[in-house]
Amino acid sequence: MTLYLTQDDVKKVLDMPSTIQAVEDGFREMGKKAIEMPPRVYLHFPKGVLIAMPAYMPGLGAAGTKLVTVHPDNKKEHNLPAVIARIILNSPENGLPLAIMDGTYITALRTGAAGAVGIKYLANENSEIVGLCGAGVQGRSQIMGLMEVRKNIKLVKVFDIIPNTLNAFIKEMQELYTSTKFVPVNNPEQATIDSDIIITCTPSPTPFIKGEWLKKGAHVSAIGADTAAKRELETSVIKKSDKLVVDFIPQAFVVGDFAKPKEEGVVSESNIYAEMGEIVSGLKKGRISPTENTLFKATGLAIEDVGTACKVYELAKKKGIGVNLQS
Ligand SMILES: NC(=O)c1ccc[n+]([C@@H]2O[C@H](COP(=O)([O-])OP(=O)(O)OC[C@H]3O[C@@H](n4cnc5c(N)ncnc54)[C@H](O)[C@@H]3O)[C@@H](O)[C@H]2O)c1
Repeated sequence: MTLYLTQDDVKKVLDMPSTIQAVEDGFREMGKKAIEMPPRVYLHFPKGVLIAMPAYMPGLGAAGTKLVTVHPDNKKEHNLPAVIARIILNSPENGLPLAIMDGTYITALRTGAAGAVGIKYLANENSEIVGLCGAGVQGRSQIMGLMEVRKNIKLVKVFDIIPNTLNAFIKEMQELYTSTKFVPVNNPEQATIDSDIIITCTPSPTPFIKGEWLKKGAHVSAIGADTAAKRELETSVIKKSDKLVVDFIPQAFVVGDFAKPKEEGVVSESNIYAEMGEIVSGLKKGRISPTENTLFKATGLAIEDVGTACKVYELAKKKGIGVNLQS
């Protein structure tokens, strides 16, 4: 029997603390080299792509594949979301598909959780001021993740290129997090200057954060650039960072934030201080001084999806949520 879970079902059982736990567990297994995660496989359609992302974590008993399609014009042409994802979980024991579930909400939450793990290990403990660029789906989940791992955030300065989107985001976040002040700012420079943590989560094709705006000790969480065509950080940000941390070295050097500085001869794989898994598993230290400048570049990993889906499956079974499908 296979458990089928809709997006509403997933939302009923999954919260940010359990997602952070699942993502952190996945990074730990990766640090111990106890995972199998082949490179993503792509199919190229006229108006989009299909990406298959399989992962197996023997230590967690988790195996499965995310199938995600990205069709940027879907909303306009078909009134469908641009990103549509499903995750199939398989039993490592006998291969049976244990569950098929919506993967869109899991993608949003696990990415916020990955950013939060970066902040947990790399940002200053007493961080108070945050700059956020990109007030979309990721803007929301990055804030949700941040609030779980830093409890003293007093001010979040938000920038988005669409004023209405920015204002709606400020209103929504202010209602959710009443002890933090959310303010709109006019440009990425205002978001960055004086901030302890800078989060970028936009699909921008051109970089907009400069190294000279970063204060000493700042942490940058670079989330948005997940393809070669996207880039949020100018090369000066890479140069300014004392610790460059990525989720997965081969993927990091394909996306704009690192691919372009590599072309310029500014950075190569040997300049990466650690993959996040090495830090979470204790092989390497995270932040060691309040004045270090740190950068975490997240590109998104199948272990994050499969680990989170496994958590959803366990919680849904416990609560009797979902529909059982016969084979
Ligand atoms: N690293 C990962 O694992 C991962 C996972 C999911 C999504 N992403 C990427 O994150 C990015 C954001 O995804 P989303 O789902 O939040 O998209 P979204 O469309 O919901 O939100 C993006 C927001 O960024 C704003 N924006 C665009 N260019 C900007 C700029 N130059 N400066 C400031 N704001 C700008 C848009 O107006 C929009 O409000 C995308 O590139 C997406 O592919 C990465």
